[in-house]
Amino acid sequence: MPEVLRRTGGHPVKSIVFDEGQIAARVRQLGAEITAAYPDGDLLVLGLLKGSFIFLGDLVRQIERPVTVDFLVASSYGAARVSSGDVRLAYDPCTDLEGKHILLVEDIVDSGKTLVQLTALLRERNPRSLAVCALLHKRLIADVGAEVRFVGFDAPPAFLVGYGLDHAENYRHLPFIADLA
Ligand code: IMP
Ligand code: MG
Repeated sequence: MPEVLRRTGGHPVKSIVFDEGQIAARVRQLGAEITAAYPDGDLLVLGLLKGSFIFLGDLVRQIERPVTVDFLVASSYGAARVSSGDVRLAYDPCTDLEGKHILLVEDIVDSGKTLVQLTALLRERNPRSLAVCALLHKRLIADVGAEVRFVGFDAPPAFLVGYGLDHAENYRHLPFIADLA
């Protein structure tokens, strides 16, 4: 995979888990599912930065109904590699959530702690509905306490990078999803 090594600065990846074609096809399906799921009302697509930035850019272009887009930045305190479950909002969207359908877009659901906390915060703002669209779901827990209504792919229990996902801020730009190993 010499072209992969050029992109990663020489760091080998174990395998490509989802390639560009698979991702594009699934994102098109998700866009159609989302279009069908919201026949009326205002739909605000809220991307959770930074991991969702590429997915969100591709996804909204497959949604064939009016949408507005904003972003959230969450910061979690505690151990660096493990979700502490103590999530705060570092950037809060200026957009009013009241009475709108909110679709929170996340890169990957791992422990689910991030989503549990964020959805609780967002629910306090009285949206008309609140749902989550995650590109990847590790299925480590059955109930994240939030409606993860749209999922791109079930993910293996590995550390994945690319298509927005990082390791120490690297690899977000890879056009595929890889097992870093
Ligand atoms: P959770 O709170 O444990 O569900 O953590 C979710 C967040 O951890 C995601 O938004 C990612 O930023 C990060 N994360 C979890 N698993 C991975 C992975 O395999 N690769 C890269 N980031 C991950
Ligand atoms: Mg991350």
